[in-house]
Amino acid sequence: MQPIDLPGPKAKKYLERDGKFISPSYPRVYPFVMSHGKGTQVWDVDGNRFLDFAAGLAVTGTGHAHPKVVKAIQEQAEKFIHISSDFYHPAWIELSARLNDIAPFSEDALTFLSNSGSESVEAAIKLARHHTGRSQFIGFLGGFHGRTLGSLAFTASKSVYRNRFFPTMGSVVHAPYPDSYRPLLQTRAGEDYGETVVRYIEEQILTRLLPPDNVAAVLVEPIQGEGGYVIPPPGFFPALRALCDKHGILLIADEVQSGMGRTGKWWAIEHFGVEPDIVCSAKGIASGVPLGATIARKSVMTWPKGAHGNTYGGNPLACAAALATIELMEEEYIQNAAEVGEYAFDALEEIKVRHSHMGDVRGLGLMIGVDFVKDQETRQPYKAFRDRIEQLSFKHGLITLGCGQSTIRFAPPLSISKAEIDEGLHVFEHAITLAERE
Ligand SMILES: Cc1ncc(COP(=O)(O)O)c(C=O)c1O
Repeated sequence: MQPIDLPGPKAKKYLERDGKFISPSYPRVYPFVMSHGKGTQVWDVDGNRFLDFAAGLAVTGTGHAHPKVVKAIQEQAEKFIHISSDFYHPAWIELSARLNDIAPFSEDALTFLSNSGSESVEAAIKLARHHTGRSQFIGFLGGFHGRTLGSLAFTASKSVYRNRFFPTMGSVVHAPYPDSYRPLLQTRAGEDYGETVVRYIEEQILTRLLPPDNVAAVLVEPIQGEGGYVIPPPGFFPALRALCDKHGILLIADEVQSGMGRTGKWWAIEHFGVEPDIVCSAKGIASGVPLGATIARKSVMTWPKGAHGNTYGGNPLACAAALATIELMEEEYIQNAAEVGEYAFDALEEIKVRHSHMGDVRGLGLMIGVDFVKDQETRQPYKAFRDRIEQLSFKHGLITLGCGQSTIRFAPPLSISKAEIDEGLHVFEHAITLAERE
């Protein structure tokens, strides 16, 4: 397999101009300069083809430029592009009704629309305070919820996100996330590690730091995304839900990365048998058109007129794209995510047998993480090796992105075929083999 000479001449020119005009804060990892995409395939400005196993960071669930999504956007654009949230329009109302149908709780849902994941989290934080009249929150180490000052108060995946931005909103105490591959707490006999974490919250945080009746909500990712594609043990969510119920604390599921069919169900929390009170969604919801949604039980979204709003909420292009996305998910892609996800997971387990630096392979549906370790026994993270795999995969035509300390995430379009998984994993294994030889 021959490496591609990257960046190519046209890409080089764009990178130079980018450096002159664009904020240096973006965490770019390698020089992919996109020209266009179709399904799982993307091309750069020099005509090089890649398989996209990152989907614009778990966004383009229906694949790049799905004809039905493109048509929905075009048709809406010809009618009108914007009207402001002071008024009404059919696609907004229809989308909110569809989100009510698919919300992961039995009670009716009301939805607040915004433009990003961070904003969907901000709205959830404000709603939780408004509804409960309480001010404090519990978040999780390794969590990522955005970079606005409210959502940043919860984000605890890397300190660079917080460096020089203090004070953030405050009022958030972080518990360890239930990562049973690298646990921070000691489990007692008869407990799974998820239950251990909830016991820690009850016995330490709610006893020493936060009076329970001051706590508005727990904000948690059902599967931790930026933190390393970490899946909690089965005991975690039932115990957490019971703790929240005991103290009148709201449970907010941040499904910005894990939701909209990615795990083979509409929402990742559905794998764990509990119902949250508020759900944050964005990324995959509109196939790449910016849209955030804060979906709450009707009995929780009790704030009055004027309490929260925005200019672009319910943007018609985003609503049209989201309606088309939901239809495609329902028709075939959620099912495909479950089936092809399992296929990819099994293939990765097979690859792992041949490579000693591959540690934990974990995932649900098409949200799969491969952790790299210095040694499979000690499980010590091998960040440099992971970074090298990311670069070598790119050089051989595969787009991947890292997460956590030493994990590569697979978050391809949910429309991906088994043949595309085979092709991508062939490149991935080649990259591992090359890194091992270096
Ligand atoms: C779980 C989660 N919440 C919130 C966000 C923030 O979303 P955005 O970047 O759209 O503001 C992200 C982004 O990666 C995320 O993964």
